[in-house]
Formats: sequence, structure tokens, C-alpha cells
Amino acid sequence: TTTNTAAITIFGAKGDLTRRKLIPALYNLFIGNHLPAICTIICVDFMTVDENEFKNDLLLGVNEFSRSGKADPPTWSAFANKIQYIQGDFLNEETFINLKAKLDVFDVKNKQRSTRMFYFAVSPKFIEVIAEGLYTHQIANQLTKDRIVVEKPFGTDLQSAQKLNRYLRKRFEEKQIYRIDHYLGKETVQNILAFRFANYVFEPLWNRNYIDHVQINVCEQVSVGKRGGYYDGSGALRDMIQNHLLQLLCVIAMDSPPKYEAEAIRNAKVNVLKQVRIYKESQVFTNVVRAQYKEGSINNIPQHAYRKEEHVAKNSTTETYVAARLFIDNERWKNVPFYLRTGKCMPKQTSMIVLQFKDSPNRIFKDDIVPNRLVISIQPDLEISLLFESKVPGLHMKLKPVEMDFTYNQSYTEAIPEAYEALLLDVLNGDATLFMRADQVETAWKVVMPIVDAWKKNPSKQLLYYKAGTSGPKAADDLLKPFADQWFVV
Ligand code: BG6
Repeated sequence: TTTNTAAITIFGAKGDLTRRKLIPALYNLFIGNHLPAICTIICVDFMTVDENEFKNDLLLGVNEFSRSGKADPPTWSAFANKIQYIQGDFLNEETFINLKAKLDVFDVKNKQRSTRMFYFAVSPKFIEVIAEGLYTHQIANQLTKDRIVVEKPFGTDLQSAQKLNRYLRKRFEEKQIYRIDHYLGKETVQNILAFRFANYVFEPLWNRNYIDHVQINVCEQVSVGKRGGYYDGSGALRDMIQNHLLQLLCVIAMDSPPKYEAEAIRNAKVNVLKQVRIYKESQVFTNVVRAQYKEGSINNIPQHAYRKEEHVAKNSTTETYVAARLFIDNERWKNVPFYLRTGKCMPKQTSMIVLQFKDSPNRIFKDDIVPNRLVISIQPDLEISLLFESKVPGLHMKLKPVEMDFTYNQSYTEAIPEAYEALLLDVLNGDATLFMRADQVETAWKVVMPIVDAWKKNPSKQLLYYKAGTSGPKAADDLLKPFADQWFVV
């Protein structure tokens, strides 16, 4: 269902996301001829800006952040011609009147009702008011051709997420609502489904009989930077675990969907979340480690403590690091620990999933055996490798673990699209496979709520600290015992 004409509206056009991710993604789609030939990009924000200056600033953003590097001037200007700016407060009727006028002019000119996408790149407090504006001004109807895209955070707890879902569903059909989790758009994350369900060799082993434990790491080197205002009210649990890491867990743990189709895949994922063991308060403190970074250094560059970051409370107890041990109580995974870990100001950026296989019952060799390990690297390396034992060449039977390696670089010449490119195109094509359904978001909140509540009740209980540039508190290693001594990612 590729569309003929598209009108893309971005609310929050002066924001960081638009400049760093959305416009570079749209620009790359344009270069690759993936955008409908007739297309307009309407950027809405409350700031008064000169349209040319605005576009120039977007160009600087593309030059800095686009995977395709510096924009080619004629190509950029062809793209920039599609962009229009509307200055408007989201609380003001006139903003929506102007928007409607621009969209109607576009449709009349092209003699057809375009596919309309409305991207909410705004603070959560504006979501309802914008949705209301679109609805009351008849800008977005309950046509499947009209789609809204909602960024995370989707609520700040279960209740607020439910409220937001109820609200949006009064105004739109579920199939018009695209809740983004950009991790699902990452090439390597999409590939996990291909890897698992297009290859028959792994699936028979993908369960409690052969897998000892699983580690899901999303380690970041960056600090909270300028995002302290948002982050201090959120923390790593809500910012990363509730969405990105739990979605990775779903992709790794789900059963095979009956087909590659949005509802089937989302059903299979939500089933995983429904079976995650829900902790009592006391279990939270034995299964989840939280920590905050102290002063330190990253790559020899000094980094101040989290509490000294801009817009962060001086006595903040917000966690910048979480390590959690979760269990999925179903037939496939009963008693297999899934270790999830994420943090800021860690030694390097590494997102990696490791499936540790069980030790072989076979003991015919003298040497110690290192059990097989499957490593799925999500970023920055794009790679899947299997660790296995092999005989060292020579006159003795001596073993050593080696790696069987698949790297994107060696196997493909194709460019790797950014997550936002894949996801924006999916929205235009009406494909919700990689988006979060209402029940997925809510069930993910149900998993983290006991942790949110336990920490809220005991703000500094077991809050640990780690030096910026180090891989986190020792308690996070202890959590792995007896399954492992340390995290495979340091
Ligand atoms: C965002 C979080 O959703 O994901 C950020 O709010 C985090 O805190 C970012 O840095 C990580 O995304 P990526 O694609 O850089 O791994």
C-alpha cells in the first residue's frame, strides 16, 4: 500500500529529535526515492523563525547527523522545497486552522486526499492537546490514511499510559496510532526475527533445555548531557528498560508468530511480557540493582557526577544504571534468568545480547570446556557470532574456543538504514509491525511498576554509585551468580 501523495506534519519541529533524527531520516528516504514523489513536510513549532534560516539549520543537522554525510546542495534544495514551517502554539486554535489550510491546499493542488502523518516530537504534556486539535479541526479523521506517531516516553507509569491510550483511542483507531520504540527499527534488531525464524538450526535449542541464561546489554558512553530536565524525572528504568530492553527481551524470547504480520508478531511479543514474573517489593531489592554515576572520566575526559548535571536535583536519587534479573514463567523459559542491563557513562557504547548455552554433559576431553555462546551485537558493531570449542592445530588434542562470525561488512555491500528511516517509511506504508500496540506498552509498564513503586517508597535504599567511565557497581556482577561471574560486556 505505497501511497501516492503524503503530507508529513512534525509537531516539535525545533526540537532535537527533528534535527538529529527525523529530518536526516526523511532526507535519506528522499535520496533513496522512497518518499512519495508528491510530498510535503510541514514543521510546526511555537518559535518564530525565518523559514530559510529554519531550513538552513535543518541542513546543518543533516550534515552533522545523517549517515549519508554532507548533503549534496541541489539534492538538498529539492528536498528543502518540500518543507514548510508553521509558527504556532499547540494550545492555540489558530495553529490548527493554519495547518488545516496548508494541508487542504496541498490536497486540492494534487487532486487527491493525501496520506497524512502527524509526528508528535513533543513533550508528553502536549500529546493530548495536539490530538484534540487534530480531531476537533477535522485535520485527521478516523481514516486509516491518517496516522499519528507518538514518541516515548509513553506515560510515566501504568496509570498514565492507560489514560493516554484511552484518550487516543477516543480520537483515533488503534491502527492509526504508531507508538515508536526506535530500537525495533534497528537493522540488527529486525534481523533477530530473521535469524530465529528463517533458520531451523537454532529454534530447537532456543529454550530452557539448552540455554543457561541470557544477557541483554545496552551500555552507553554518553552522559545525560543536556537532557537532565527530562531524565531526572525518569531514570534508566523508565527511559530504557520499560521500552527498549523489554522489547529486545520480547524479540529474543517470543514464540514463532504464525506469520510475519503486525498483529501476529505483536501478539507473540505481548505474550512474553504477560509471562514475565512480577516481583514483590522485597524481590525488587534482590533482583534489581540501581546505581548513579559519580565523578569520573571517559576516554580521559573528565566527567562530573550525575548530581552536578544541568537541571538535575543536587540530591537526586534517580538511577542512571540498572541491572535486573527477570524470569519468564512459561514452558520455554522457566527458570532461565534474563539479565537486562543499561547505563550511562559506561566505558564504551555496546548494545549486545548474549545467549549462554549450557555446559556440555560430555566430558571426554581433558581440557575445560567453555560452553557455547551466541552473541548478537546490535551496535556499534553489527555482528552475530557463535563461540565454540575447536582443536588447536598440533600434535596434541588441545582445545580452545573460537568464533564463527557473521559481520554485515563482510556479507553485505548494502547501506544500513537508520532506525528512523525504516520506521517512518513503515508509517507511510501503514505497516505497524515494528510499532508498539497499546497492550504492549501497558504490559511493559506492568512489568516495571513493582520496581518503580519499590524505589519510590524507598528512594535511597540500595542506591549504589559507580564512577563515570566504569562498568557499574559490583552488585551487578553478583546478580549474575551462579550463572556467570561477570557481564560479557564490560
Ligand atoms: C532514547 C533514550 O530512547 O534512546 C536515550 O531516551 C538513549 O536516553 C537513546 O540515549 C539510545 O538510543 P541509541 O539509538 O543511541 O542507542
